[in-house]
Amino acid sequence: MKFFIDTANFDEIKEAYAWGILSGVTTNPSLVAKEKNISFHDRLKEIAELVDGSVSGEVISLDAEGMIKEGLELSKIHPNITVKLPMTEAGLTACAALTKEGIKTNVTLIFSANQALMAARAGATYVSPFIGRLDDIGIDGVELIREIAEIFAIHEIDSQIIAASIRHPQHVTQAALAGAHIATTPYKVLKQLFKHPLTDKGIDGFMKDWANKDK
Ligand code: E4P
Repeated sequence: MKFFIDTANFDEIKEAYAWGILSGVTTNPSLVAKEKNISFHDRLKEIAELVDGSVSGEVISLDAEGMIKEGLELSKIHPNITVKLPMTEAGLTACAALTKEGIKTNVTLIFSANQALMAARAGATYVSPFIGRLDDIGIDGVELIREIAEIFAIHEIDSQIIAASIRHPQHVTQAALAGAHIATTPYKVLKQLFKHPLTDKGIDGFMKDWANKDK
């Protein structure tokens, strides 16, 4: 499983990219809105020029024609741009049209295996099931990843599964075991993944022993 980071904050992306673990970035309108006084297209360009991998930028139109127009504009920003589309009838119409143009797509807001299957058949490069938001309403989000992975394997579907709406480190391990190709992980959770008390304790021990060397 690969790591994407789920943020529009350039400092977070720069820091995480330097760790050598990032294969891409996802943004959404809420994440972009958190960044004050930026141009959406300029920020996507800045990210895509830094990160060697897929950078998802989401459309805000609700009709297919508007989504296609926005998607074509987004795709011109940089070859790394992936057009993110909502899991609606209009979203899939736009997905099929943009796929025909050779543009990469990420169908988002997926909450069922059938939605994932439809998005894949419309040509989605990526499908994004939201684990955390399902857990919030008492449905096992990781189980959905497992179902989608099984269906895609049975039917030899190439679309990649991005485990999204990741809330804590356990989601990352569970998504990897369930067959997600990618986990798009918030900066805060990526930082948590480094941590283990025995790692800290081990470093302390090594430092203390080194300081007492030859004494
Ligand atoms: C996916 O691409 C979305 O940006 C994201 O993971 C949504 O997560 P949330 O439920 O934390 O908003």
